[in-house]
Amino acid sequence: MLKGKPKFKTPVQPKTPSIKKTSGPRYQFPYSKNDYILLVGEGNFSFSHSIAKTIGTGKNIVATAYDSESVVEEKYTNDAVNHIKELKDLGGTVLFDIDATKLEKRKILKNKRFTHIIFNFPHCLGIKDQDRNILSNQQLLLNFFNSASKLLTTPASQTVSNKDESLDEPSDFEENGAVPDLNRFGEIHVSLKSGLPYDNWDIRMLSRKAGLRSKVTMPFNLKWFPLYEHRRTLGFKDGLSKGGNQEIAEKNPKLYAFVIKESLDPQHPQNQDNDGSKKRNRDGHSEDSDSDD
Ligand SMILES: C[S@@+](CC[C@H](N)C(=O)[O-])C[C@H]1O[C@@H](n2cnc3c(N)ncnc32)[C@H](O)[C@@H]1O
Repeated sequence: MLKGKPKFKTPVQPKTPSIKKTSGPRYQFPYSKNDYILLVGEGNFSFSHSIAKTIGTGKNIVATAYDSESVVEEKYTNDAVNHIKELKDLGGTVLFDIDATKLEKRKILKNKRFTHIIFNFPHCLGIKDQDRNILSNQQLLLNFFNSASKLLTTPASQTVSNKDESLDEPSDFEENGAVPDLNRFGEIHVSLKSGLPYDNWDIRMLSRKAGLRSKVTMPFNLKWFPLYEHRRTLGFKDGLSKGGNQEIAEKNPKLYAFVIKESLDPQHPQNQDNDGSKKRNRDGHSEDSDSDD
């Protein structure tokens, strides 16, 4: 997807990104109220809050943290409490204790299908040894890819119930004009810093192992997420953590979008134009040629 013109009306406070122009001509804000979005590995929930604020609703957002609620509050203090409150006020669903590598095992998620599953700056808790650190982060990503692929929408998703009585979930999308279009191939989005050691994680190789293909790689545009404040896995530590988004801004962060490989099969009916020729995807890209944009 990373689709064209998102549909939302009035700009919201604080300053909403100019969706069409901030990223230059090539890339546009990748989410809209027509998506059904699962976020995993949230820190202080500022990223999910920012997306909800920008698209004008949280009704189509399920934001989750690996930690328990009390640990989130302890690590990220009032920041998290406030972002969570505002996200919920916008209709968002917030869940704790969610392991991104075992999503399909959770009753609350297993019958759902999402158009976007986002892991923003994944990272395991610090292992000092560089090689072991890389390996454990690769394992995290690979297991996440395998798990998340099972919860992605496909053109057959209409047949899968997105209602689960156990989840106090948004059932009244229409009220806000947020009607997710589930009848399409979903995407997995991962943001990562560039340079070492992150380049050695070889995210594209990992995605291929999980049966995914790179759809597009784009700069992670901080201006798209005005409320977002990146946090480390251990929370904010005075003297160690940098304020604002300095930690990522200096590291040429990228947003990687992956799809299941079948979605790029030119023979798949979803990928055919009426005349049978291969369709380009919604944002005009065919499969990313593994170039680092
Ligand atoms: C560098 S922090 C980034 C936090 C947040 N996404 C952000 O962008 O500010 C890495 C995050 O990955 C999470 N994480 C690590 N292992 C995880 C797992 N198995 N499932 C879900 N989240 C995990 C950590 O709890 C932490 O929140």
